[in-house]
Amino acid sequence: MASSSSTEFAQVKKEYDEQAPSYNALLKLPFGVLESQLFISAAAGDGFCKNASVLDLGGGTGLRARQVLEAGAARESGRLRWFHGDVSRPLFGEQGVVGLCPPYDLVMANWIFDHIDSPDVLKALWRNIAAAVRPGGRFVGVRACDPRCEAMKTGKYGPTCQDFVEFSGGIYYSSTIPVSGAPSVHLENASLEVSYSGSTEMHERYGFCDVKSEPCENAEIVKSDPGFWQLWIERPGFVVVKAQKRLNRQQ
Ligand SMILES: C[S@@+](CC[C@H](N)C(=O)[O-])C[C@H]1O[C@@H](n2cnc3c(N)ncnc32)[C@H](O)[C@@H]1O
Repeated sequence: MASSSSTEFAQVKKEYDEQAPSYNALLKLPFGVLESQLFISAAAGDGFCKNASVLDLGGGTGLRARQVLEAGAARESGRLRWFHGDVSRPLFGEQGVVGLCPPYDLVMANWIFDHIDSPDVLKALWRNIAAAVRPGGRFVGVRACDPRCEAMKTGKYGPTCQDFVEFSGGIYYSSTIPVSGAPSVHLENASLEVSYSGSTEMHERYGFCDVKSEPCENAEIVKSDPGFWQLWIERPGFVVVKAQKRLNRQQ
């Protein structure tokens, strides 16, 4: 569920880690193909990733980190390094994670907002994101939209969301990724309305501007069969958001 304490993050981590070998089955589903296409378009469509330093918060199996490496990120070192920790705890400075060296050109937080049920934890994550990105640098984050949308309830595009329980300011639910020939991946989620609604409040509060969702109509998979994607276009299950860290003179 959410990660408002280290115990809760430990649960999220354990749940994910146990199922991580099956998580990449997502890539074979329409949902996962779309996510990959929108993600790389947002992160690197304009060549931004060439030689960029990148921090991937809650990187999971490294799906998205590998995509930006292929797009030219970290070309000098050409490698991925992994750190374990709760990304809602202070990451930098004396109490931070040894080995991290901000600021980064690109900071990503994909599907992290959908494990948070506390505004304080959300603020702590945003403080880390803000501290991690250089002025003029980029933030990219995949996040759920309203999980009760038809696209997610029906499973037309692969994964489903279910077990909805509203709480003040957000919603708990679970999500399922079908895996061919193996048990489905099942995750517990919590999304705050300020995250899933499309509000840019947090981005702006933490120093970002030019906040945009990557248009799903531009993805090759959508262009190849717009009829199939109509339900998604009307109410998508996720969006890939990108934003620019304000330059000092813009603040
Ligand atoms: C659905 S997976 C997505 C993984 C990866 N970002 C991707 O897009 O492929 C969610 C990931 O977020 C991680 N996560 C959730 N809350 C976290 C927290 N507070 N600190 C660090 N990682 C967290 C989980 O351990 C898991 O790896």
